Amino acid sequence: MVNLVVANWKMNPIDKDEALFLAQKIESSAKKNVKAVIAPPFPFLPVIKPILKKVSLGAQNLFWENSGAFTGEVSPLQLKKMGVGYVILGHSERRINLGETYEMVNRKVKAALKSNLRIILCVGESEPEGWGAATIIGTQIKTALRDVKKNSLSRLIIAYEPIWAISTMPGARPDTPQNAFQVSVYIKKILTGLFGRRPADLVQIIYGGSVNPENVGGFLKEGNMEGVLVGGASLNPEKFARILQISSQKK
Ligand code: PGA
Repeated sequence: MVNLVVANWKMNPIDKDEALFLAQKIESSAKKNVKAVIAPPFPFLPVIKPILKKVSLGAQNLFWENSGAFTGEVSPLQLKKMGVGYVILGHSERRINLGETYEMVNRKVKAALKSNLRIILCVGESEPEGWGAATIIGTQIKTALRDVKKNSLSRLIIAYEPIWAISTMPGARPDTPQNAFQVSVYIKKILTGLFGRRPADLVQIIYGGSVNPENVGGFLKEGNMEGVLVGGASLNPEKFARILQISSQKK
């Protein structure tokens, strides 16, 4: 499995010229042994799509119906037709700021899988060394994957993103590779309990939260992560190119 490196641009940049510039830089720094994905805001999907050859296109959200009277929403089918291959679901910023519930995340996961999209499901606790982190992560995974079939697990990626480590949170600091490793073992255990060993092994586990060129190697090696979800540093082409370079090296 090659490492997956996802650029989560969040609600950036501000216009299409900048989006195109950033996407071109990322495309030109794409490497052979690493899978790169850019997840821009919806309006920039068709803008950057034509210049992406090695890099895949991702979305930051979707709705669970394919069409209809759902003002302001974007459907899995619309994304699919636009050439989107990946979708980030359950990001903590949506759970916290937009009230996305476990139930909504589950509906989105099922709709995305039905449309053959690959899912980057974000899970993570809100307090460092907080009591019950494992319980929260366990609940997030179990509820998001309710009624999901084993045979779709090869299209599932779980991003462990401790909320307190996200760079825009006050006092944020990256997690340690050791803790990330422990959580990845725990995530595998939950998945094995739900689906069995073999299907659980198909799920790629990546880390997100203040990833930068200095710490990415630690998460991939000691943390045993199979990729990273990058917010802030994905808006800096030089930093992101270095993250791709480091992630392309074999463990
Ligand atoms: P960050 O964001 O890299 O800026 O911490 C990661 C994310 O929230 O996906």
